[in-house]
Amino acid sequence: MTQTAGRFRFDLTATDGKARTGAITTPRGTIRTPAFMPVGTAATVKGMLPESVAATGADILLGNTYHLMLRPTAERIDRLGGLHRFMNWDKPILTDSGGFQVMSLAALRKLTEEGVTFKSHIDGSRHHLSPERSMEIQRLLGSDIVMCFDECPALPATDAEVARAMRLSMRWAQRSRDAFGDRPGHALFGIQQGGVTQDLRAESAEALRAIGFDGYAVGGLAVGEGQEAMFGVLDYAPDMLPQDKPRYLMGVGKPDDIVGAVKRGIDMMDCVLPSRSGRTGQAFTRHGVVNIKNARHQDDPRPLDEGCTCPACRGYSRAYLHHVFRAGEMISGMLLTWHNLHYYQDLMQGMRDAIAAQRFAAFEADFHARRAEGDI
Ligand code: GUN
Ligand code: ZN
Repeated sequence: MTQTAGRFRFDLTATDGKARTGAITTPRGTIRTPAFMPVGTAATVKGMLPESVAATGADILLGNTYHLMLRPTAERIDRLGGLHRFMNWDKPILTDSGGFQVMSLAALRKLTEEGVTFKSHIDGSRHHLSPERSMEIQRLLGSDIVMCFDECPALPATDAEVARAMRLSMRWAQRSRDAFGDRPGHALFGIQQGGVTQDLRAESAEALRAIGFDGYAVGGLAVGEGQEAMFGVLDYAPDMLPQDKPRYLMGVGKPDDIVGAVKRGIDMMDCVLPSRSGRTGQAFTRHGVVNIKNARHQDDPRPLDEGCTCPACRGYSRAYLHHVFRAGEMISGMLLTWHNLHYYQDLMQGMRDAIAAQRFAAFEADFHARRAEGDI
């Protein structure tokens, strides 16, 4: 064993403009960046076996404190050997801290300086989350990358409300840091807040840098502000965060959001879109979105995407995928989710290769040109 074995580290191998490529090293494996993390909220990427998720090219999954604390509980997962063993995924897992999901899913939330009390969206039972409890849950789960407990204000919000939530989140970031302690091989990421206001983003970044984290997330985006406003923030926010640490844009996004975020210096992203859309009959392709439920596909012998090597494209026609979707067959969501996750990972690999070869601008132009061709 070398001296650095068991450590968490981030190495950049190339940059092209603001776009970066490199690798995060963890005891559970390497995460190639820019990375897309499929969402496995309830200890499963819905409709996919873990080995299938790995086969799409995913190096890391996202799990959720909020859902797992309610069902089956963090203590039970701990007794059963941790989340990796429980869900049969041995590569890295990043867990979100719960605050964001409480705000969007739970009922009767009561927020104080100490934390948040809420009622479960599953059975109405009362629960509590705080920076300290979130750190404990994420430790019980065995998460490799732990997120700070934060508050992301719901939109529309006034500047004063965004500032209040950001400052509370920065105090919670310090409490998260203190409660996390020193855990070699595990990482703690801070989360920048501040909405679409540059001064608040700068204040938040300064507070996080003063505390010191293994990585830094840009939070509070993709909450309804629109792509133009999000890119407006991403034009400056990543530059406020340390160059030598991973930067994670939370909850993003559509393929064009992802390309635009990487162009602006983001290293990691997660989104339910490829898996959720797979279950509702939407497929992402090089030429844009295919709605498989559309009757135009019922006699079409072509695959979803001629250039894709996923099992859905190698083995099945659009006509078949249309049929199983219309018939409500389980394989419909399975095949479309596999294709979508494969497409997202291909997109990430394409960007990693383009950055390494200093041709990101050409990659981006080609990405947009193909989608503009239309008629898919
Ligand atoms: N997921 C998407 N946005 C956010 C955010 O601002 N905070 C957290 N914790 N999770 C998120
Ligand atoms: Zn495919």
